Amino acid sequence: MRIEEHPIIRYEKRRTVRFTFNGREMEGLEGEPIASALYANGVVEFTRSPKHGRPRGLYCAIGKCSSCMMRVDGVPNVRTCITPLREGMVVESQNGYSPPPGEDAADAADILTGGVGGDAGGVAGGRTLPYEMDVDVAVIGAGPAGLAAGIEAARKGVRTVIFDENIVPGGQLIKQTHKFFGSHLEEAGTRGIDIGKELVEDAISSGAEILTEATVFGFYEPNILGVMKDMQIVKVRAQRVIVAAGASENVLVFENNDLPGIYGAGAIQTLVNVHGVHPGGRVLMIGSGNVGLIVTYQLLQAGVPVVGIVEAMPHIGGYLVHASKVRRLGVPIYTGHTIVEALGKDRVEGAVIAELDERWRPKKGTEKRIDCEIICLAVGLRPTVELLYQAGCEMRFIGEMGGHVPYRDDNMETTRKGWYVAGDSSGVEEATAAILEGRIAGRTAAASLTEYTKEDNEMLDGWKKRLEELRAGPTGEKIRKGLSKLSGGVLYG
Ligand SMILES: Cc1cc2nc3c(=O)[nH]c(=O)nc-3n(C[C@H](O)[C@H](O)[C@H](O)COP(=O)(O)OP(=O)(O)OC[C@H]3O[C@@H](n4cnc5c(N)ncnc54)[C@H](O)[C@@H]3O)c2cc1C
Ligand code: FES
Repeated sequence: MRIEEHPIIRYEKRRTVRFTFNGREMEGLEGEPIASALYANGVVEFTRSPKHGRPRGLYCAIGKCSSCMMRVDGVPNVRTCITPLREGMVVESQNGYSPPPGEDAADAADILTGGVGGDAGGVAGGRTLPYEMDVDVAVIGAGPAGLAAGIEAARKGVRTVIFDENIVPGGQLIKQTHKFFGSHLEEAGTRGIDIGKELVEDAISSGAEILTEATVFGFYEPNILGVMKDMQIVKVRAQRVIVAAGASENVLVFENNDLPGIYGAGAIQTLVNVHGVHPGGRVLMIGSGNVGLIVTYQLLQAGVPVVGIVEAMPHIGGYLVHASKVRRLGVPIYTGHTIVEALGKDRVEGAVIAELDERWRPKKGTEKRIDCEIICLAVGLRPTVELLYQAGCEMRFIGEMGGHVPYRDDNMETTRKGWYVAGDSSGVEEATAAILEGRIAGRTAAASLTEYTKEDNEMLDGWKKRLEELRAGPTGEKIRKGLSKLSGGVLYG
């Protein structure tokens, strides 16, 4: 079902195209993700898990979890949440392991380390891409951190390319319809979607190239990135790399937690705010941090009913101003509760919640059934760091920063020379901090290839000071604690 009216969002008008799903003819909007088109047609169960044959649907909606993988035009394991729909596409469920498309699929490692390749050129998304690219600064991720990094690097006059695997640039900002909290110096009070648009415009005008639908899938010595663009491998030689790949949503352990109809909070935001698709039922939100509260409010705004918010802590996690808004709209908040089970066989048909005792265990006899078709998990994010691990950067687990994060100096350079990190990949925080870290990483990476001018040093000092101010005060306590553990480590202590 499509959302026709929204108080803030004007959904893009697109051409209708036809495609098939398991032989059934369907209609969707050209360029929207295949997964959104399936949802709009009422399809919630996409495929089956390879080993146990469990039903699978959308979970993250940003290409990070593999839950939505299907066979598209004969190619297996396509992430349908970030693959645009085109006229005549043939989409099929997978059941077990799906066979490869043909015998001639070349091995990525071979291509990237010199076995195959050359600069013959190939057509990708209407543009001609060389199979090989030489760039000065490669930025992985076009969220606020990556865009800010790209802007600053390109302003120094070096060739800067920002790669993003999603269909449009902007990262998490493309779905944030609310006015941002954070520092007034870094655009707090402006809607996230508008901040994203501004950053994209600035990146383009500063001379950075943005390549979307381009997944950086691996790192190969010496300093080669493997990029998949339109089913074609591109070998990118980069002098400097900035990882700004964001974060992915945490899952919770409870019975049946893999049923279709259970999503990360960001996924449901993507469906509703970006693609204008109704998720198809009543929502139970798990987690009352700012993300859970804001997404609840945005769902209500779009006409999607929310039957309650479940919070394990004895108090609300996010700002009270957000909690009061949703309470006024009649949404109960169950503090000191958790979800113990999702009900249903092939998709969610309800949930069981229970009170927690003082040792955080569900109390027997307090179980309550909640009728809902959707369970939305807003239980935190963890940094996306696989490429940093692959490149051999020194890492450390720091709970306050969301998980494993790389050691880095105050210019955001990791322990691998020439590799930088910024934004949620460096520790989960907010967009304001992501932008500042991106600027620092981008300017430093480019200056290290050209020269550090007096202006560079002044700019860097200014951004670092603003980061410090942003992290001062009670809301920055957690990140300050995390950072002190990182700098108290052996590498930059
Ligand atoms: C509901 C919600 C509300 C929020 N509200 C606020 C708020 O009010 N104020 C605030 O300051 N912050 C807020 N935030 C947080 C903010 O959106 C994030 O902290 C910020 O977007 C992080 O920026 P980033 O650039 O690090 O990552 P992201 O925005 O996640 O961008 C990362 C990008 O990297 C791309 N990518 C990842 N891996 C690859 C790869 N291998 N190859 C190519 N591309 C890749 C992804 O496609 C993505 O576009 C909110 C977040 C949520 C979910
Ligand atoms: S990868 Fe598509 S839903 Fe997670």
